[in-house]
Amino acid sequence: MYDVMKSVSSLRDTTPPPPVHVGIIMDGNGRWAQARGLPRIEGHRRGMETVREVVKGSIELGVEYLTLYGFSIENWKRPAAEISSLMGLLRLYLRQEIKELDERRVRMRFIGHRSLLADDIVALIEEAEEQTKENTTLNLVVALSYGARQEITAAAQNIAQRILDKEMDVDAIDENVFSEFLETGGMPDPDLVIRTSGEQRISNFLLWQSAYAELVFTDTLWPDFSREDLRQAVLEFHRRERRYGATG
Ligand code: IPE
Ligand code: IPE
Ligand code: MG
Repeated sequence: MYDVMKSVSSLRDTTPPPPVHVGIIMDGNGRWAQARGLPRIEGHRRGMETVREVVKGSIELGVEYLTLYGFSIENWKRPAAEISSLMGLLRLYLRQEIKELDERRVRMRFIGHRSLLADDIVALIEEAEEQTKENTTLNLVVALSYGARQEITAAAQNIAQRILDKEMDVDAIDENVFSEFLETGGMPDPDLVIRTSGEQRISNFLLWQSAYAELVFTDTLWPDFSREDLRQAVLEFHRRERRYGATG
């Protein structure tokens, strides 16, 4: 007799594992607001709601690392008023979400130049990292005041200093060692990097780590990006053949 359960479980067995690490360049908040005659900050506020959805969606899909590009080091060039409202939203997010993220067993980490952030934001970040450090459901990495070139430069400086201090040998430097000096040391490289809003560029996001990431660009503006869009991006990822330079 036809065994439904067996058929269902064999279907499940053929589902490819999700990408371990997904990075997202969350773009298009300003255009979303502009299109509605709203101030840009309204787009950022809606974008924050998308973050909640995408975190839940990533847990559902079984993603282990989700890195969200929230504010680039170059974003400090924006008008002071926009920066201050963005920082206000960030404070709100950190105060409101930590408890729920912790309950969902999400571990939070932050990468980027903390010295440029306000002291109270740094305190909130450190608190979030400390409070969630034992959690294992999802690693939520937020790139804030982050720039990949600056990260790589800092790693090179740190390595040079170790060598000057005779704590390290030049010959000891290889790709794995170098990776450990990046802020993402110990984390797997992103398998999939998604950028919303139709722009097709990396904008200084995880340059070293994304060497072999699959890139998915979608026209959807970040405030409109849904769990279903995330699922579609993962399906697109599964259609790709990752060759890493070898033959297919
Ligand atoms: C992304 O949306 C959020 C940040 C970069 C902080 P934008 O603010 O870049 O929105 P657009 O690209 O102007 O539409
Ligand atoms: C990239 O978006 C940075 C973040 C999403 C945080 P931008 O909107 O700043 O990028 P560009 O300026 O269009 O390259
Ligand atoms: Mg943008």
